[in-house]
Order: sequence, then structure tokens, then C-alpha cells
Amino acid sequence: MDMTGRGIKSLTNEERPRFRDHGMEDFGLPGLNPHTKAHIEYGKPVLTATQASKYYGCWDDAFGRSAPMVLEVGCGNGFFLNGLAELRPDYNLLGIEIRYKRVMLTGKKLRSSGRPHALVARYDGWFLDDLFQDGDLHGIHVNHPDPWPKGKHVKNRLLSRPFLEDAARFIKPGGFLRVKSDFKHNIDRTETFIDRTMTGEALPPLPFKVVGREDDVNANGAPWTDDIQTNYQNKFLKKGLPVYAIELLRTDDV
Ligand SMILES: C[S@@+](CC[C@H](N)C(=O)[O-])C[C@H]1O[C@@H](n2cnc3c(N)ncnc32)[C@H](O)[C@@H]1O
Repeated sequence: MDMTGRGIKSLTNEERPRFRDHGMEDFGLPGLNPHTKAHIEYGKPVLTATQASKYYGCWDDAFGRSAPMVLEVGCGNGFFLNGLAELRPDYNLLGIEIRYKRVMLTGKKLRSSGRPHALVARYDGWFLDDLFQDGDLHGIHVNHPDPWPKGKHVKNRLLSRPFLEDAARFIKPGGFLRVKSDFKHNIDRTETFIDRTMTGEALPPLPFKVVGREDDVNANGAPWTDDIQTNYQNKFLKKGLPVYAIELLRTDDV
């Protein structure tokens, strides 16, 4: 792994695996995880990975309308996504989540609150280029990504230079990347990787500008409007621990 947390992204596009569903036969029926089966059978707002990847280049078709598209990576139980869908009926919202049970929790919430402009897909945030073309997104939210605090696991941290490179490609100029985390290091990484490695070596600058940073969201609110407290944020609030946030503006290409 290189100094930018490249992990799987150190492979060339041809070398790296794509993120796709396995066939039902691969799940070892009848021991199939009930949530895996449910997510295949549920239908919209739940999309399997294979269904989601078919909307590459035509996401408006998934929502049945054209509107600015906002992505949440790692939407967990869907509390934030469902809340944002209520607040922003003018957005097309997509949550992606790798864990089947959480995909289903999100899907059920969205369906029961009747929000056809919000969908959830079982997908992996390391593979955004399977789903999006350049400039497809108005914004990306990442809330409390898994921290991977141990040094030997640093390659697993989603907030990395490759993730920022993807975000710079897929967010159109004028759009946003908004991150909340209980792990301050993740906020520092988001800012640093715009133009440096974590050890200070220069990298080609990405078209992002920091427009907001907050070291205690629970006390002072996020640096943007339209914020929803997430499930994990709530856990840290209850423990009296701080939550950090950063907002990047996608500037014009450099
Ligand atoms: C700590 S939880 C936070 C959940 C939610 N965002 C919140 O704030 O309550 C992190 C979530 O990200 C999901 N996740 C981890 N790595 C992911 C990845 N590469 N792509 C998509 N989701 C991921 C996990 O399954 C988990 O639901």
C-alpha cells in the first residue's frame, strides 16, 4: 500500500475485481442469510448490486425523474437517509451499504415513509466508478465511516486519497462532500488528501476547497444546513463524546 491509503486502488482498473452480487447458488442455500434473500426479493427502494450497476449512466431512470443526485456512503440503518429524504424532496437520494441487514433496515424505512426519491443499494464505497460517470453527483455524505483505528488497518479507511479522487470525479463543480466522524483523524485525512500525503508530501491538487469544519457537532451543529443526527452520532452524543465534521466544496477543475 502507498502513503495515500490506496489499498485495492493500487490495482489497475483491469486487475481489480468489480463489486457484484453472487448468484443465489453461491450463497450456499438453504443456509442463505435471511437478509441476503430478503434484499434480492424486496424490490424498490432496495437495489441489489447488480441492479444498481445497471443504472450506470442513467440514474434518472432509477428515480423516474431528473433531480440533483446525492449519495450517502455507508448509510447503516437509514436514519440519516430517510431524514434527509424528508428534508430534501428535491434531491434524488441513494444510500449504499455493504451489510445486507442494514440495507433492508434502510429499505423498509424508506418504503414505509413513502419516499420514492430515495433508494438504497447494497454496494461498496470503494467501487463508486462501477456506478457513476463523471459529474453525476451533486453531493456525497459520509457519516461515521468505520474508523479502523489500528495502524495496520489503515488501508481499510474509506477516507483516503483514492476516495477523494473518486469524489472529485463524480461530484460536479459546485457540489459538496460532507463528512461527520467520531474519529478526528478521518476529518484530518479528508482535508490533507486534497493535496498532500499524511506525511506531508505534495500530491497533485484535487478540485476541492474546505468550506466548513467543526470540532463539536453535537454542541454546535454541522457546518451545513439540512443535517440529520445519525444513529452512530447519537451513540457518541449519549456518551458525551465529540463528533467532528468537514465540508468540501467541489470547485471548478484545476
Ligand atoms: C459505523 S457505521 C455508521 C452508520 C451510519 N452512517 C451512522 O452514522 O449511523 C459504518 C457503516 O458503513 C458501512 N460500510 C463500511 N464500509 C463500507 C463500504 N466500503 N461501502 C459501503 N458501506 C460501508 C458499514 O456496514 C456500516 O453500516
